[in-house]
Amino acid sequence: MSIQPPEASNFAVPIDRMFDAMLVLCGAVALGVFVVMFWFCIKYRHGSDANREGRQSTRFGLEISWTLIPFLLFVGMFAWSINLWTLLRTPPNDAKPIYIVAKQWMWKVQHPNGRREIDMLHVPLGVPVRLIMTSQDVIHSFYIPDFRVKQDVVPGRYTALWFTATKLGSYPLLCSEYCGTDHAAMTGTVKVVSREDYHAWLNESTALPLAKQGRQLFVQFGCSGCHDPGSGIHAPDLRGLYQSRVALADGSTVMADDRYLHDAITLPATQRVAGYAPIMPTYQARIDEEDILALMAYIKSLGQESAHALHR
Ligand code: CUA
Repeated sequence: MSIQPPEASNFAVPIDRMFDAMLVLCGAVALGVFVVMFWFCIKYRHGSDANREGRQSTRFGLEISWTLIPFLLFVGMFAWSINLWTLLRTPPNDAKPIYIVAKQWMWKVQHPNGRREIDMLHVPLGVPVRLIMTSQDVIHSFYIPDFRVKQDVVPGRYTALWFTATKLGSYPLLCSEYCGTDHAAMTGTVKVVSREDYHAWLNESTALPLAKQGRQLFVQFGCSGCHDPGSGIHAPDLRGLYQSRVALADGSTVMADDRYLHDAITLPATQRVAGYAPIMPTYQARIDEEDILALMAYIKSLGQESAHALHR
């Protein structure tokens, strides 16, 4: 029996190796310190006839080596961990996006084709997956021990996490940030299935794709009344907005990323677009995070064609 949990993602093995190396290195240092300490305790105990003359000597080679060798070992650990951290923080461009909304006390999952699940996350084997996560209420933390990945999920912002599952099977999903009464019950299952099974599973759903759901919400919440081209109301055109630079009324410019789109919907007064009157109402209390994700999927799907003309 192994004392380690299964290693089921691309990060599991490198993280375990680094953990082992840290354990060995720190263990060796601790052992060295304690061995010498006990040895001195015995040798120089009260009443022993050890030589206490306080001989002065400088052995330069020894001083240099016991300073430099541990220093280089620990700097090496640092370089190794930075390298791994960079990998953990850099999803490949082709990673499959899946959206997560945490809520007291459940994990809600939205796949871009519109399929939803709760406390379950289906992922395809061997395909990089990027989770885009936010919280409806308090801070949660998304944790898959067998994948060695963990990321805080914070209200009012998007955090991301990526991995490639490397073993078929079911793995526990946990919340690792105390988030209220049922924190301990905020668990789920990550199901790693083959690519074929994953696509078959996605296609069982009759739900509209996320971007189409977003379009319906766009009409339902009345956004289209102002933001559709030709609406007759002077509101920013959203075509090509995503990932373009937006000039704000205060003279600054911002990148229209996920965070910007989210805040533009919930807190429109904070980042007003230059040249437009502050007439957009806030949707903060009227719309939940899942709907915002669908709206964002719709906005992202609007073509790039007019981006440069409209959002300079
Ligand atoms: Cu959610 Cu703890």
